Amino acid sequence: MRIAFGDLRIGDTARKYVKAALDRNWISEGENVKEFEQKFAAKFGYRNAIATSSGTDADIVSCASLYEFGARRGDEIIVPALCFVACANSILAAGFTPKFVDIEIETLNIDPNKIEEAITKKTRAIMVVHTMGKPCEMDTIMKIATAHKLKVIEDACEAHGATYKGRVIGSIGDMGTFSFYAAHVVVAGEGGMIVTNDEQIADVARSVKSHGRPFGSIYFDFQRVGFNSRMNELTAAIGLEGLEYFDETFGKRKRNEYKLLELTKELSDYCYFLKEEDFEKVSPHAFPLVLRDRKYDCARLYTYLESKGIQCKTLFGSLPTQHKAFQFMNHKYGQFPVSEYVGENGLHFGIHQYLSDDDLVYISETLKGYFR
Ligand SMILES: Cc1ncc(COP(=O)(O)O)c(C=O)c1O
Repeated sequence: MRIAFGDLRIGDTARKYVKAALDRNWISEGENVKEFEQKFAAKFGYRNAIATSSGTDADIVSCASLYEFGARRGDEIIVPALCFVACANSILAAGFTPKFVDIEIETLNIDPNKIEEAITKKTRAIMVVHTMGKPCEMDTIMKIATAHKLKVIEDACEAHGATYKGRVIGSIGDMGTFSFYAAHVVVAGEGGMIVTNDEQIADVARSVKSHGRPFGSIYFDFQRVGFNSRMNELTAAIGLEGLEYFDETFGKRKRNEYKLLELTKELSDYCYFLKEEDFEKVSPHAFPLVLRDRKYDCARLYTYLESKGIQCKTLFGSLPTQHKAFQFMNHKYGQFPVSEYVGENGLHFGIHQYLSDDDLVYISETLKGYFR
């Protein structure tokens, strides 16, 4: 692949932290993880950062923490119909039911106007997902959540460093979650983080991620149902380097995003591209596009781009109606028309920090060639 989705180059900082862990003969959660949490919180201005073994586990632990705040098994959590599958899976894994809401085509995010009709007596939270780094419409979402006494989990796994009206994503709801999987802006190989400005939530999440013990204890005193969702020292070592270079990585990716948007401007009659409003900063996670008409044939475009060495991914699809995994919930195709359309007519590819200007020109010329 000439244009891989992402690229990771491991440098001296990561090696130093890996060596320190090896020299300590301790690679379970320890000093590196603690430093990663502290530096992550300080970098983005969160009061608490709680490292987990993956972004999925950050979502599971966040959901499971809701039991401490009045939620009961089988209650509902609202989630967009189109997003990465881990969001819906984590709601199920924590013992809740995902209540799917359609998305908007231009933002790829949950449609705030459709949230209220999905709220029932069993709804306990809204999990918003800042898909492709694009902030959700948080003002409206927080108003709805406050009116209905719902907690808000911001899944920011694709939105490192994104901001909304001057506030960093992950700090607007009750909790935010991040993933450090390959090709994200901060990479640790695997790994995740929960952030929260609420001390009580932080204490509960720290306990849930370690079998429900009181935070800091390794003894058999289980106060709530929990999991082993801890991060290990080697993962944190790689993450610490990702964090050290965050500004550089973010800046290069952002430049790539702007440049590619400029180079592909003339294709906006054919495709929706992600738009950045004045009041926000989209995190440069990847480069999504959605065809404006089915006749441009997304499957053909996908094959064409891959044949030219541009690694592509679809735009997830409608989880409840386009994936076998959720058939048991008995939703019918047509219930989530925008998500279904985007699932069939959208794709995304990488804009990572190691792409050159020539690569960006190559991507745009390849795209133009297709539509020509
Ligand atoms: C929106 C979203 N949520 C959750 C996850 C899960 O993260 P992980 O792969 O680290 O488990 C991802 C993965 O990239 C994601 O994109």
